[in-house]
Amino acid sequence: MGGIGSYAPPQIVSNQALAKIVDTSDEWIRARTGIRERRIANNGENCSDLGAKAARAAMAHAKIDPEDIDLLIVATMTPDMPFPSTACIIQTKLGLRNIPCFDIVAACAGFIYILDVGCQMLKSGNYRNALVIGCEKLSSIMDWQDRTTCVLFGDGAGAIILTKNETAGLGILGTCIAANGADGKILNMPGGGSNEPATTETVLDRRHYLKMMGKEVFKVAVRVMEQSALEVLATHNVKPEDVDCVISHQANIRIIELISTRMGLPMDKFPINLDRYGNTSAASIPLALDEAYREGRIKSGNYVLLIAFGAGLTWGSTLIKWH
Ligand code: UT7
Repeated sequence: MGGIGSYAPPQIVSNQALAKIVDTSDEWIRARTGIRERRIANNGENCSDLGAKAARAAMAHAKIDPEDIDLLIVATMTPDMPFPSTACIIQTKLGLRNIPCFDIVAACAGFIYILDVGCQMLKSGNYRNALVIGCEKLSSIMDWQDRTTCVLFGDGAGAIILTKNETAGLGILGTCIAANGADGKILNMPGGGSNEPATTETVLDRRHYLKMMGKEVFKVAVRVMEQSALEVLATHNVKPEDVDCVISHQANIRIIELISTRMGLPMDKFPINLDRYGNTSAASIPLALDEAYREGRIKSGNYVLLIAFGAGLTWGSTLIKWH
């Protein structure tokens, strides 16, 4: 890896502020999720703006210029618009060359997916520096009348520069990604695609907002994130106890506590920032990874495990030997 950066919009929205909009309370949100506040972008700040800011931070960290980037992949489920891709919009904002730019939709597991795609394309030999960005403006698809979802999510972005590294055994060791589309209906946004193009009825029925069956999602998330983590560790002959730091998708503290128990790893190996950002979907992993790195919680030679889960259903895990 060549560099990492993140960005969250400055506006903080507390649980108490949400309790003035929907029938909820700070106590309920904290007890059931661990979330205290989230960041919300203003109307003039698009998903691509969040992503571009995180990318600039990652490029500064990597000490590379825009012309050195030869591949851009974005993970988002809240693109600026259905097309062109948010990657193409960010390309222009960053002043990148006419390189390949595309989006991948794998919801909250999106960043793990683009890490894998970026690494595979670097390995193929045609690229040297890939910029991968997870960015979300989830506030734009929240139903602010639905207390079961609007308290959970926030806006943000994180980015990594993947650089071709010939040193064996260092950097990203491997990724496992998977999906089960049969369970797609438990977390989706039904309106706005070709299945339900926008009509007065779809808008009045609030079909253009995120819908989630929280309890069902919770159960699958715990099971598949643990399975995926064990799979990537076994593939690389690393024992769970040898992992120094686990960056889990920041959806709910109770999910992370269950994974910690099931894997026999103490919670102090799991950096947490969902209390301050809520669930930022594809931005969640790079935002938490960047914070943990800047706080000195990840050191050279550490085994770092990333695990995520999201709509699709999709999930995945990445094993990194940090350098
Ligand atoms: O990133 C993508 C993956 N997404 C996730 O990982 C989310 C996974 N799911 C979860 O995190 C949890 O299931 C939730 C936080 C969404 C919900 O927690 P829960 O403990 O499963 O609560 P519940 O859905 O069973 O609801 C319990 C009660 C219900 O009331 P009744 O039916 O018991 O009277 C809800 O109506 O809590 C009520 N409730 C709320 N009350 C106050 C639901 N949302 C709220 C709210 N404030 N915001």
